[in-house]
Amino acid sequence: MHDLTDQEFTRFQRFIFDAAGITLSPAKKALVAGRLAKRVQDCGLNGYAAYFSLLASGDQPAEVQTAVDLLTTNETYFFREPKHFEVLRKSATERPPDGKPFRVWSAASSTGEEAYSIAMVLEDCLGSGRWEVVGSDISTRVLAQARRGQYVASRTTNIPAAYLKRFCLRGVGEHEGTVLVQRQLRSHVRFHQVNLNDAVPGTFGTFDVVFLRNVLIYFDLPTKQAILRRVRDLMRPDGWLFLGAAETTLGVDDSWERVVVGRSSAYRPLKGA
Ligand SMILES: C[S@@+](CC[C@H](N)C(=O)[O-])C[C@H]1O[C@@H](n2cnc3c(N)ncnc32)[C@H](O)[C@@H]1O
Repeated sequence: MHDLTDQEFTRFQRFIFDAAGITLSPAKKALVAGRLAKRVQDCGLNGYAAYFSLLASGDQPAEVQTAVDLLTTNETYFFREPKHFEVLRKSATERPPDGKPFRVWSAASSTGEEAYSIAMVLEDCLGSGRWEVVGSDISTRVLAQARRGQYVASRTTNIPAAYLKRFCLRGVGEHEGTVLVQRQLRSHVRFHQVNLNDAVPGTFGTFDVVFLRNVLIYFDLPTKQAILRRVRDLMRPDGWLFLGAAETTLGVDDSWERVVVGRSSAYRPLKGA
């Protein structure tokens, strides 16, 4: 198979922009070539151009989803940016009771580590009372892993020891070397496929806290602005928004107040904005 040409790369750039809103810089050409090469071969095709034609034909929606899965970056880990989890705990324990469940959205949940980290904190501070976590992602492959809640043990070292003991089961026999998030905790967490560039399902409800971390970085300015507007519409006025360390609302959408928490930032909807 020949190398990915510039013209072919441009087509895949447009494909992933249209499908997921993701802007791939020219520096990502080798990454795209590497991630698609095996798939092109598995499909029995002789090159990238033929694969692009398959995607563009309009009658292979499952293949389009596979390409989206391959071209998204899913890196994540348990208790990433611990300060955010401290703010989460404080917010959950201090919200005056109003009969409504405390709801948190992990809006680009990848394989689920973020959603289950949130669930561990909420179970710890609210008990098995009224709280729920919604995880969502565009990639069906990562959502399937998230729903399973089973992780290679070496990837669970960031979970505080007491939580690991209380909320996770060590695999035995054929599951040796893995850790399973306990069923009761999993029952508070639901995963849905959501493209952040589309309207969210009408049944989504409103959220006390939204984790929108390490995903805005892939989008251009108008896409970031549209997503932040939609997220704001789904948040309680006293809610919290967490972004990744390399992301900010500053210069993107001025309807948020930035609050410094240690070396991290958190954001709250500005009143009246
Ligand atoms: C780097 S991971 C971030 C995971 C987690 N939030 C964290 O910070 O550890 C980015 C995730 O965003 C998802 N993603 C990319 N474009 C998306 C879109 N348009 N809508 C929803 N999810 C998207 C990817 O599939 C990927 O799982």
